[in-house]
Amino acid sequence: MSKLIKTVRGMRDFLPEEKAKLDHVINVVRNLFEKYGYDEVSMPIVENFELLAMKAGEDIRKRMFVFEDKGGRTVALRPEMTPSVARLFIDSLMKAVPKPVKLGYIGPCFRYEEPQMGRYREFWQGGFEVFGSPHPEADAEILAIAHDMMTSLGFEKFQLRLGHVGIIRSILKQEGIEEDYQDRIMGMIDADKKTEVFGLLAELDTSEKCMKSLTQLLKIKDEDLKGGLKKAQEIVGDFPNTRKAMKNLHQIVEITEAQGIIGKIQLDLSLARGLEYYTGMIFEIFARKLPIAIGGGGRYDKLVELFGGVPTPAVGFSPGLDRIALAMDKEGLFADLSKRNKVLVVPASEDVYSHAAGVVQELRRQNIPCELELMRRSLKRSLSFASNSNYDYVVIVGKREMEKGEITVKNLKTGEQKTVSIDKAHKEIPNVSRKNTGE
Ligand code: HAM
Repeated sequence: MSKLIKTVRGMRDFLPEEKAKLDHVINVVRNLFEKYGYDEVSMPIVENFELLAMKAGEDIRKRMFVFEDKGGRTVALRPEMTPSVARLFIDSLMKAVPKPVKLGYIGPCFRYEEPQMGRYREFWQGGFEVFGSPHPEADAEILAIAHDMMTSLGFEKFQLRLGHVGIIRSILKQEGIEEDYQDRIMGMIDADKKTEVFGLLAELDTSEKCMKSLTQLLKIKDEDLKGGLKKAQEIVGDFPNTRKAMKNLHQIVEITEAQGIIGKIQLDLSLARGLEYYTGMIFEIFARKLPIAIGGGGRYDKLVELFGGVPTPAVGFSPGLDRIALAMDKEGLFADLSKRNKVLVVPASEDVYSHAAGVVQELRRQNIPCELELMRRSLKRSLSFASNSNYDYVVIVGKREMEKGEITVKNLKTGEQKTVSIDKAHKEIPNVSRKNTGE
């Protein structure tokens, strides 16, 4: 087959079933925008490379699709949307609106990864961002949305791994380690390259005490959040500037307890994130049958300022929509999606072709999703096509029906058949929609 017919490596087509699954996940995310008061925005796919690269972290930076446009600007396909939303906030909303500003978004992103299960070069993200609140309630709201999303999608067993970049960064800072080295160390922790972490720390003449504390901290993975926090407190006791981060994490945990979502959270102080803009709480979402994160986020209080805006604290997260669909597939959570009623309207003879086209439109006016038989098959062939293609109902329009303003509704699952006036069609064909929004 010609190479032209294949998608570019790592880019994705969505066939109808896959598209329906992605849309289902998108619908649930959109519902959460409304439920939690996030206004949806949309940003361009192409942005200035510099904006996207500034705090992307080394790994994502080198995976960006970068090119020069015809005007000589160095631009890139966005690898994520947080820098774009921060730009939009500074450009249009920073001064005009009282805080907090809560924004939601959905769209495709691009990273030049080695394609494999759940890792694509083109993938879909959603996102929730809160601008303006430095308080732990905002962090906890983001965790609550992530939790709500997972239960709304039907996941029963899942985990939110919770960490805090402020703790390790404060220790490194107390040791006199500069921010760019801190970024590198956090990147190595994220990539699980512990030997390299300690190699670099040794090169930087880090104290014995620091090395020991970090080794112990990175081992904390605890579902008993308060117990885990107590252990961490004992380890970082000698580093007074970790106090602020520890207190902040305590407060976030306390609020999540009040929200009733604590059972799904694991404290994981070895968690780091590839992106370099995080300043506080960070987390990732894991489903049972997929070893990679299906969402992640955290607090980034310096990004707006770094981009030239008025200093504005911010926190948010992005669900990876394709990965969520994959995880749902693995857990059989899409079973309900095929529930839509399929209805085929069939003209019984040539002389009612136009009338049947009018009938199908009238049924749609009654909110009945339906299709007209477009191949001009005979009635008999239409009926066998409909049953082979899993239709639920066939609406037969014959000459006699046309003259009386009626239709014959045949239920293909039960075999029952009834002739009724067109305006009563909705009583015979229940409108079961495919759009399951998780409510
Ligand atoms: P991220 O962890 O880089 O965070 O991406 C969020 C999610 O996008 C991941 O958990 C994953 O599900 C999905 N994802 C990332 N790369 C791929 C890929 N190559 N193929 C499929 N799915 C992928 C961010 O992007 C931040 N902007 C999150 C955030 C929002 N932080 C604060 N606000």
